[in-house]
Amino acid sequence: MSTGISTAKMILFGEHAVVYGEPAISVPFTQALIKTEVSPSTENQFASTFFTGPIEEMPPFLDGIKRLILSIQKLLEQPEPLTVKVLSDVPVGRGLGSSAAVATSVTRGLYNYYEKKLTEEMLLKLVNHAEDAAHGNASGVDAITVVTEKPVWYAKGKNMETIHFAGELTFVVADTGIPSETKAAVADVGVLCKKEPLEYMPLIKELGGISREMKELLETNIDKIRIGEAMNRSQSILKKLTVSDPKLENLIQVALSAGAYGAKLTGGGRGGCMISIVENREIAEKVVKALQANGSAKEWIFTIGEGKHEGDRPSTYECGIN
Ligand code: PMV
Repeated sequence: MSTGISTAKMILFGEHAVVYGEPAISVPFTQALIKTEVSPSTENQFASTFFTGPIEEMPPFLDGIKRLILSIQKLLEQPEPLTVKVLSDVPVGRGLGSSAAVATSVTRGLYNYYEKKLTEEMLLKLVNHAEDAAHGNASGVDAITVVTEKPVWYAKGKNMETIHFAGELTFVVADTGIPSETKAAVADVGVLCKKEPLEYMPLIKELGGISREMKELLETNIDKIRIGEAMNRSQSILKKLTVSDPKLENLIQVALSAGAYGAKLTGGGRGGCMISIVENREIAEKVVKALQANGSAKEWIFTIGEGKHEGDRPSTYECGIN
């Protein structure tokens, strides 16, 4: 049996705006991992908590992964049947990039199984291809973060840079328990921007401006209060873009009342997760307790920066066969 591992991702700033070429800042979310096990079989099988059965019969929401497995088998000229088993602690459809993470771990697992070298460039190409099927109009920010396992500054079709944070940051992430409707949310923002560009395009630009402002701050001077304030500004813009919802708003208010400096949705919105920035672990634990008492489905305390900025563990994409 061979394995492939990947992390989830968390967008700090710039979701939705990144679809329009504005920059986003995204980090690997190492608290939630996906592991794929590939083993020989008598027929091509996929196994996971969301679907188990023949690869050919995978449901439409797994089309990207189905296409990915079949195209890798074709590309590497490996027609023998196998079982691809996905074990995940990344909740599906919660704005944590589960589709890009599944695609990354499946690709790594298959390349390890076939004992073929997988370059980062090739991995990114394969994951983006799978993401196109999952999202329709994916910006590519999920794929680049999950594949590189580094905090990234990303502007679609323009540039991608790794960011080195100047200090340590502590976040509390909470899941509303409601699947995020990324595809519909992206499409609806598209309709708004097309119908009323004078009203909505400045909001997109403002989100991009916040990403620019935060890049400078994150790289030079970690000012948690200013970061929190920028998160709150982002959230009020995302709300105007119609991608927030009452459960996200509730968890955001709970986190702020419990001592967070700022909070916002992350990823597609309309369900999914919210992130909040706190001073330290002590406050994080208070925020977690408040969220638990007020309906969040799951919470994580997440630290990044000061050596942790490249993931809490070594890069996995060259992991061998085990
Ligand atoms: O919901 P997620 O984790 O797929 O994140 C989507 C981020 C968007 O900016 C809303 C869309 C995109 O493709 O960048």
